[in-house]
Amino acid sequence: MNPEGHFLSIADWSTDRLVEALDLADRLKADPTAAGKPLAGKTLAMVFAKSSTRTRVSFEVGTAQLGGQALFLSSRDIQLGRGEPIADTARVLSRYVHGIMIRTFAQADVTALAEHGSIPIINGLTDLLHPCQIMADVQTIREEFGPDLSNITVAWIGDGNNMTNSWLNAAAKLGFALRIACPEGYDPDPTIFAEASAAASIELFRDPAEAAVGATVVTTDVWASMGQEEEAAEREKAFVGYHVDRRIMSNAADDAIFLHCLPAHRGEEVSADVIDGPASRVWNEAENRLHAQKAILAMLMG
Ligand code: CP
Ligand code: NVA
Repeated sequence: MNPEGHFLSIADWSTDRLVEALDLADRLKADPTAAGKPLAGKTLAMVFAKSSTRTRVSFEVGTAQLGGQALFLSSRDIQLGRGEPIADTARVLSRYVHGIMIRTFAQADVTALAEHGSIPIINGLTDLLHPCQIMADVQTIREEFGPDLSNITVAWIGDGNNMTNSWLNAAAKLGFALRIACPEGYDPDPTIFAEASAAASIELFRDPAEAAVGATVVTTDVWASMGQEEEAAEREKAFVGYHVDRRIMSNAADDAIFLHCLPAHRGEEVSADVIDGPASRVWNEAENRLHAQKAILAMLMG
């Protein structure tokens, strides 16, 4: 299947297709019924190998609003968790359902589902990428500053993780500037970084205060992602100073907003007065998961 028939990575979609999804997400936010019921009679399987609040609920509600039904499958409870190959799981689920959203560890497992199944696959987070989240984040930025992203600078402060990698992919496709501050040893994926740097204005910093200078958007994420729980103590030391607080925000533009994909740890990567303060748009951002993903579902499965 054509890579645009799945949503495995923002890098797989053309700029036009990404903008089409963002425009549809805006229409769906204004009117939740704007797309009609394109998923009537259809089922989305949602495979989770990691925890989730937002992704699970927004995909389930979004599928229902589009007329379809969603099936929650914890990988602990299905045979995948006992070692059934991902390729066989893809072949079997393709006989029952019309699309699969998966949250797991290896990006290769998501790619394998797409390769061996015959239905659209949506990446609901891997260790490498979190593309659905970034679509919601870009929707939030457009709401605030308008659809022309050429004057937007996003400052990412923290771990070079799945969120950072998807921000890099989005900068390359959508043309905003990205300033990344992360401690040495916690850089984003080097291949994604190199590819994005060839297409967009990307800068790497070791000083978070410097990365935030003039930014329109300041954003961060947890220091230890799901699957890295054992590294938490070591990461707490490595990320000292990588904390978005009022001092960092004061370096950003006067009308800068703060984003965080959530869940957040107040007092670690962000201070309570920033995430709960006037620049924060995190609740809109969380809401936009629903609208952005409905657009993706309608485009892939409708
Ligand atoms: N931001 C995000 O993906 O949240 P969940 O882990 O709750 O799905
Ligand atoms: N980087 C985080 C994002 C959670 C939504 C993680 O992978 O755990």
